[in-house]
Amino acid sequence: MPHLKRSFIAVTAAFALAACSESEPRTDRFEQTGKLLALSGGDAGAEGACINCHGLQGEGNGGDAPRLAGLNSGYIVRQMDYFSTGLRRHPKMVWIADHVDRPQRLRLGEYYQSLPVPRDVPGAGPISDAACDPRIARLYHQGDADRGIPSCASCHGANGQGDMANPPLAGQPAPYLELQLRHWRNGERYGNPQSGMLDISRLLADGELQALAGYSAALRDANAYPALPAACLPERRPDPRNDA
Ligand code: HEC
Ligand code: HEC
Repeated sequence: MPHLKRSFIAVTAAFALAACSESEPRTDRFEQTGKLLALSGGDAGAEGACINCHGLQGEGNGGDAPRLAGLNSGYIVRQMDYFSTGLRRHPKMVWIADHVDRPQRLRLGEYYQSLPVPRDVPGAGPISDAACDPRIARLYHQGDADRGIPSCASCHGANGQGDMANPPLAGQPAPYLELQLRHWRNGERYGNPQSGMLDISRLLADGELQALAGYSAALRDANAYPALPAACLPERRPDPRNDA
């Protein structure tokens, strides 16, 4: 049986290769590193390679696909779980999550958490005039007690930096953030009901969704600019005489 013989030789060769190249990256399914999975798509194949949509540096595509670089690994794994259990409904991500098992999700989460946050995330600026409205800054930092809206800063941080439990908003593509607020409002995203994002999205006016998305995406150092993100200032003060 030449067929069997060939595969025996192939297996022996593979063992020999593995034995003499211990330090080389392994490519079999159980040894794939997070990076290799991100580049290859694992069982989802080339079409599912994360880099296609989330970028080579995990910077996102500036539109509907978010930055993954620097996100908390637990958050990444949870979101992949949500896609495969139906709590998030994006068809492409659902299909991809279904081809990535738990150990692979963990490795992908660790890989993306380890990547530095890119300095210029596509889609996180420039900021629109609507997003530079001081009422939007107030909503972000103080909320609106009359309408029962908590401040975004209380969970996502004054600089939109997020923490272990709450994802960052700063340095995410603004179109992606707006889309998520709409997903909650339309009942297409249900993960983590404790976050209150479902209620919050429904308390906000339509125009506020877009403006808050733009504002928080561009947030960098709210401690230095308590009222408006730095990105608003150059546009607002093109002429130094306006500084008075
Ligand atoms: C075909 C494009 C595409 C590919 C390939 C892709 N993604 Fe996504 N991913 C998206 C889009 C679009 C979203 C936003 C989905 C939504 O709106 O709910 C997303 C969302 C996510 C999120 C949620 C992030 C957050 O901030 O909540 C994670 C985590 C994620 N993807 C991980 C991965 C991983 C890991 C891979 C590779 C195994 C991958 N994606 C491959 C398009 C893609
Ligand atoms: C009580 C805490 C809390 C408050 C207040 C809050 N958020 Fe969130 N937010 C969260 C958590 C937790 C998540 C992740 C939810 C999940 O995993 O399903 C989230 C997710 C998001 C996302 C999606 C991020 C991503 O990467 O997919 C956006 C956009 C967002 N929040 C915007 C806002 C805005 C705008 C406000 C203020 C009007 C706000 N949030 C107030 C806790 C909060």
